[in-house]
Amino acid sequence: MTFVAAAEAPERNIGQIKLYDRDAAFAGMRKAGRLAAECLDMLVAETREGVTTARIDDLAREFVLDHGALPACVGYRGYRHTVCTSLNHVVCHGIPGDRTLRSGDILNIDVTVIVDGWHGDTSRMYGVGDVPRKAQRLMDVTYGSLMRGLAIIKPGMKLGDLGHAIQSYAESERCSIVREFCGHGLGRVFHDAPNILHFGKPGQGEEIRPGMLFTVEPMLNLGSPSVKVLGDGWTAVTKDKSLSAQYEHSIGVTEDGIEIFTKSPAGLDQPHALTA
Ligand code: MF3
Ligand code: CO
Ligand code: CO
Repeated sequence: MTFVAAAEAPERNIGQIKLYDRDAAFAGMRKAGRLAAECLDMLVAETREGVTTARIDDLAREFVLDHGALPACVGYRGYRHTVCTSLNHVVCHGIPGDRTLRSGDILNIDVTVIVDGWHGDTSRMYGVGDVPRKAQRLMDVTYGSLMRGLAIIKPGMKLGDLGHAIQSYAESERCSIVREFCGHGLGRVFHDAPNILHFGKPGQGEEIRPGMLFTVEPMLNLGSPSVKVLGDGWTAVTKDKSLSAQYEHSIGVTEDGIEIFTKSPAGLDQPHALTA
């Protein structure tokens, strides 16, 4: 895989890694990331017993549109909603609907907004009512795996180093890493090169360079890593019906580390931990 200056590349996935300039692009990503995070902040108080996932989607759509942004998922490959709502054993891409939240549920809400053409993509876990200990632990380990991965990113290291950091922590905590879905480059394009795998070997894969923009979004299961996609073509579930969790941040690589664009301005990056 090769690198290309984003300013000289077409605004689509051309199989090369785009390097963005540190000023305009980071300013755009900061705005988009912040709005996506604020949307997830707003949903903390709304995600409770008796609420349907369709209601959460409605609130998210209204929030995004009210702030002059666009919901990136609407119309994306035929998807029709603003958020994905992935409940319990749903790994990702759960479709909002008439399912009512119940005490003990764990829910991932994943939102992507477009602000001035820049994409902000982020997700968090929300616990409903009394969450079982093992579900709480899965969410904590998943958040820990994301943050341990982000903590080591700097120019010169390899994507395999990142994948290895995430995987080794998850597995040391007896959780498994989903292989079928990965993070991705983003910026002016929603899903761009490269794929960001959440597993890997140190020293392998592409080099990380300043100006790269991508997501990290590990999915961890309590049981086996195997997943399948349901007949709706979207909903991915664990084959063994074990619980699954995911967190996602959008980041940019700087000269000496990263900037996280989707950090919660309200400090709600781990909403479920508040009620623990
Ligand atoms: N936000 C998801 C991601 O992290 C993508 C969802 S695509 C959709 O990449 F169409 F399902 F919304
Ligand atoms: Co993403
Ligand atoms: Co996402």
